[in-house]
Amino acid sequence: MSSKFTHAGLLPEAGLPRHVAIIMDGNGRWAKKRLLNRVKGHEKGADAVRGIVRTCRELQIQVLTLYAFSTENWLRPAGEIKALMTLLKKFLVEEEKELKANNIRLEVIGQPHRLPDDVRAIIEQVRSATAANDGLLLNLALSYGGRTEIVDMVRTIATKAAAGTLQPGAIDETVVADHLYTRNIPDPDLMIRTSGEMRISNFLLWQLAYAELYVTPTLWPDFSPDEFIAILKDFQKRERRFGKVPPQSES
Ligand code: FPP
Repeated sequence: MSSKFTHAGLLPEAGLPRHVAIIMDGNGRWAKKRLLNRVKGHEKGADAVRGIVRTCRELQIQVLTLYAFSTENWLRPAGEIKALMTLLKKFLVEEEKELKANNIRLEVIGQPHRLPDDVRAIIEQVRSATAANDGLLLNLALSYGGRTEIVDMVRTIATKAAAGTLQPGAIDETVVADHLYTRNIPDPDLMIRTSGEMRISNFLLWQLAYAELYVTPTLWPDFSPDEFIAILKDFQKRERRFGKVPPQSES
């Protein structure tokens, strides 16, 4: 295990989540508290993203999924949507070199076709430039909604069933998982939400079935690598039973 791992006070034998998913909430409130425009909160939020990506890479976490823009976020004022798209583009332009140098692969889940052309273009550029990397997978949920994902999955499976290429009786949990946006990605072991809201908000509805949940009152722009590591330590103390009984009472 890397010295970084033990240095952070994490227990090497307890293991780390393979996949961490985060609902990055509270950018608006962070800005409001400072009498700033909401966009300033998103800008500071993008800096927080950089710190958490770096920490995941250093700790050799396999997948980091960030809820960066939901299907519901299209209902925000046009100016805020535009600012978020500009910020996303800036982030990808600035980070491309960093991702390449650090063996990080970029992926996107959601409805990329709804994104502006210039954002789609930079996603495609960074995705193909990092496709061969086998370190951290940085998975951005963009124009993502869990229910839409499930509808898309049902539609694809139903089309195959109607065409006779998939027998209804053969549809099981593996088939369903293989038709979600997250096919080939392990389910999250840990889902963190910032800003204190106790909600899943249409995020990874199928995939979070057995995830450990952690809600922190910290607003996303203030979320630091130190707090992230403290949450990982808490995760290491949890007993994950997946619906089974604890080992000591099995006999
Ligand atoms: C929620 O805060 C946050 C978002 C809707 C967008 C998240 C975007 C970023 C963190 C920055 C850009 C992303 C990347 C990957 C570079 P909110 O606006 O709902 O906050 P509020 O609930 O306090 O109003």
